[in-house]
Amino acid sequence: MGAVPTRAQAVLLGLDIGTTGAKALLVTDAGEVLGSASKEYPLDTPRPGWAEQNPGHWWEAAIASIRAVLDRTGVPGSTVTAIGLTGQMHGLVALDVGGEVLRPAILWNDQRTEAECQWITERIGPARIMDLLSNPVLTGFTAPKIVWLRRHEPDAYRRVEHLLLPKDYVRYRLTGEFATDVADASGTALFDVRGRAWSQTVLDALEIPRRWLPRVEESPVITGEVSREGAAATGLRLGTSVVAGAGDQAAQAVGSGIVRPGVASVTIGTSGVVFAHLNAVQVDPQGRTHTFCHAVPGCWHIMGVMLSAGGSLRWLRDQVAHRSWFDGRDDPYDRMATQAAGVAPGAEGLLFLPYLTGERTPHADPRARGAFVGLTLRHGPAHLTRAVMEGVAMGLRDSVEIFRALGVPVQQVRFSGGGARSAVWRQIVADVLGAELGAAVPAEGAAYGAALLAAVGCGAAGSVEEACERAVTVRDHVAPVAEHADRYERLYQIYRGLYGVMRPTMHALADLT
Ligand code: XUL
Repeated sequence: MGAVPTRAQAVLLGLDIGTTGAKALLVTDAGEVLGSASKEYPLDTPRPGWAEQNPGHWWEAAIASIRAVLDRTGVPGSTVTAIGLTGQMHGLVALDVGGEVLRPAILWNDQRTEAECQWITERIGPARIMDLLSNPVLTGFTAPKIVWLRRHEPDAYRRVEHLLLPKDYVRYRLTGEFATDVADASGTALFDVRGRAWSQTVLDALEIPRRWLPRVEESPVITGEVSREGAAATGLRLGTSVVAGAGDQAAQAVGSGIVRPGVASVTIGTSGVVFAHLNAVQVDPQGRTHTFCHAVPGCWHIMGVMLSAGGSLRWLRDQVAHRSWFDGRDDPYDRMATQAAGVAPGAEGLLFLPYLTGERTPHADPRARGAFVGLTLRHGPAHLTRAVMEGVAMGLRDSVEIFRALGVPVQQVRFSGGGARSAVWRQIVADVLGAELGAAVPAEGAAYGAALLAAVGCGAAGSVEEACERAVTVRDHVAPVAEHADRYERLYQIYRGLYGVMRPTMHALADLT
């Protein structure tokens, strides 16, 4: 953790409302990290495939993490210059006329809306949707959740007065304002990504009133100030500027310096994301990747999203790994990584399909299911772990292949997220992608990007590019091992064919439950 700031420096707060918890990060305008604090909250799965959270928990965790980071660093709340918000994308928060939450938020990884996606796509037409939104309508996105609410919970729907994304609910509690940013709005399936504005055509077609939606700003723009209630709750100064910020993927990219063409990032958190900056809109005609507005004003980005990347390894640890796999004193992930490092590339003929929560890229399929393929008596815990790491890496490669086919330049790849902390996983990803990886430093993720956006908003940095240039460096380069290339290429070709072969079986099994 860094030192207490000098008086001349601005202090920026990045606040990330993630899937597993909130994180508050204090940064100087030079990009030096002063400290961070996090607070977890639960995720509810009331039915298989559903994922919900209580927005009140986000606000409580935001307060707790802000207070903890101020306390830990000794930075007085009154000296924080500006705040940048970021968070999990796509979630639906519905409020009544008094700003009260109407039902638990429906999250990005919730898969209940297959019928609603179909209905929207048929009503508007698939080609017209791509034209209007630059993306297909997918189960995780917000619009089908709104339609689901109308169909299944009409009493709550009748009382809706405001619709917000997760981080924007926290903005509302902090400032009293209803606002969002272009990057997060891009993931609602209600937003004209080319025109950087709500799509009135789509809103009309779905009969969703425009007045329910927040106003939209570019990411570094100040949307409001900390209110009296917000200040009393958090210990921040009344009137502190809050910038629009960005959905977690765009903010993560800013925090890793992905703000010009040619530089891409790979992030393994719960989800797995391959992300590249675009100066002009570029769309995969098959809609396998997402094209969204970037947090860099006037720019876009393309990304492939796997729903269970780090989530697959966490599943293996929590549901499958027996305590005897680990030495009690070790971190289970370290132990699993050490074991996986002892297995040769290819896990002795074992492949893993990482579709544990359905998939988005490259197969937009809520009924896709995970699998181990190729099991023999020889395979043990270490093989399973290696196969999971390799399967996730191959899923990431699917996105890189789509980028390559579209002509999106990928000259440098920056690797981040929890998965990047594992040396063996880093090497596997470099080998499977056939690309050199570097780690962006500081490795503080989306909260760091949000703090840099706040620096731009309050004038402490001239532009997002300048803020990144000043703050982000790249270290720990990992080059692909040439001897592994051939084996991984053959494995990838087998992996690539498996989904198509297994799809009918996956769907039959999904339909059974
Ligand atoms: C991006 C996505 C996830 C969430 C959760 O499209 O769905 O990355 O933002 O982090």
